[in-house]
Amino acid sequence: MKKYALIWLGIVVGISILAGCGTASASPLPTLAPTSPPPTAPTLPPPTVHDETAVAGATSIAQLPTNIPQPTATATPTITPSPTATPTATPIGPCDARMPQDDLFTIVTQTYGLSRDYAPQDLVLLTDYLPVEVTLGYPTELRQVALGPLIQMIADMQNAGLQPWILSGYRSYSAQAISWEKWNREEPERAAILSARPGHSEHQLGTTLDFGSPELADIVGIEDIEFHTYFYQTSEGIWLAENAHRYGFTLSYPRGAQELTGFFYEPWHFRYVGEEMATFLRDAGTYLTEYQLINQPEPCIP
Ligand code: DAL
Ligand code: ZN
Repeated sequence: MKKYALIWLGIVVGISILAGCGTASASPLPTLAPTSPPPTAPTLPPPTVHDETAVAGATSIAQLPTNIPQPTATATPTITPSPTATPTATPIGPCDARMPQDDLFTIVTQTYGLSRDYAPQDLVLLTDYLPVEVTLGYPTELRQVALGPLIQMIADMQNAGLQPWILSGYRSYSAQAISWEKWNREEPERAAILSARPGHSEHQLGTTLDFGSPELADIVGIEDIEFHTYFYQTSEGIWLAENAHRYGFTLSYPRGAQELTGFFYEPWHFRYVGEEMATFLRDAGTYLTEYQLINQPEPCIP
């Protein structure tokens, strides 16, 4: 009991610190409780014509362990967290010593960012591994660590009669800067929640993909639209929401995650965290950022 009391004290202090470090574009951090209401049905906004639209809703968490499951090369159906890897036992070094290397669990939000110098070292070009009907010929890059699971997932989707598209993957700090500037030009009042500032996109990790569906245009009623909240209604979006965790991919921005992540609902945006973590998050009814901000040391703010 003493250990949990200390952990919760740490959480309360940590959240106070995090809230005090927020930027103008970041949302305030909510008070986290060990238990919260079950997910509620979201209220959807009217569809919009651009990508990166949003809905409000609720995603909640039941009971979280105090340590991070360690993914293994061969996936196991049960979570076996290391008993010694508790956040309280983890030494917290200076920010420079905590820059991500091959860490699948690096925290990236509108508040907590990556160094402008960070670029993964094991990127591969998806057009070398997947057919053009999946990549659409875009020169999308992904970290090698996620390639095998992705190929298997795409094959299983195709075998199920689906037509998944991969619309975006790794984006460098400078590529994100260009995207951010475009959003600010086109939608200045909403750019901060639709697009990440440079250094604050999970796409810079090289483990994150945006998926598309040929059904989306008909559902939305706009030809050639690639991103829209209604992706969650497509056959591909439904399948991914139900199955992506089995391949190690997790939905980064579910409904209701905006307070912590800073971003609206993005049903197309999946991050590779390994099968064990992805399955744990799904079973716990939570999402990566919420889990991380409770269980990992406070991240750096570059
Ligand atoms: N649209 C997501 C948040 C990004 O820009 O990374
Ligand atoms: Zn994305």
